[in-house]
Amino acid sequence: MIFKLKISKIFLILTCIFLSSCLANVEEAIEENPIIDFCKTRSYSLHVKTIIDVNCVQCHGQGGNFPNLTTFNGIKNNASAIKSETESRRMPQGFSLTTEEIQIISCWVSEGALNN
Ligand code: HEC
Repeated sequence: MIFKLKISKIFLILTCIFLSSCLANVEEAIEENPIIDFCKTRSYSLHVKTIIDVNCVQCHGQGGNFPNLTTFNGIKNNASAIKSETESRRMPQGFSLTTEEIQIISCWVSEGALNN
């Protein structure tokens, strides 16, 4: 009986140590700068292109207003203007992007407007 109790105590202590080391890892992961991580993981193909397709190309398509935003090059070549026009909410004209969408564009441009 005493022996059994010891084993289960040891087991309990080991479980606690294991769990707390897991929790420590989770805390570390959360403490890493979430804004920089958010920026580094925004991509043209997964995030930016969709926002522009849905909110910009109806006016900035082929034969539409300058700049043409239907191709990667058209978007990349105007990246800093796109960033400032959306951050100031001057674009899109007539409605607004969400704060997250604006942040995504801003992040992608700051990270070098890559074809990622
Ligand atoms: C309803 C139509 C419309 C929509 C939607 C729209 N734009 Fe525009 N955009 C315009 C017009 C018209 C101009 C040119 C006149 C002006 O600058 O106001 C323009 C100009 C621009 C310019 C050039 C500004 C300059 O002077 O250098 C950029 C960059 C731009 N838009 C980005 C965007 C982006 C990015 C989106 C989507 C988030 C967007 N626009 C959505 C109508 C639109």
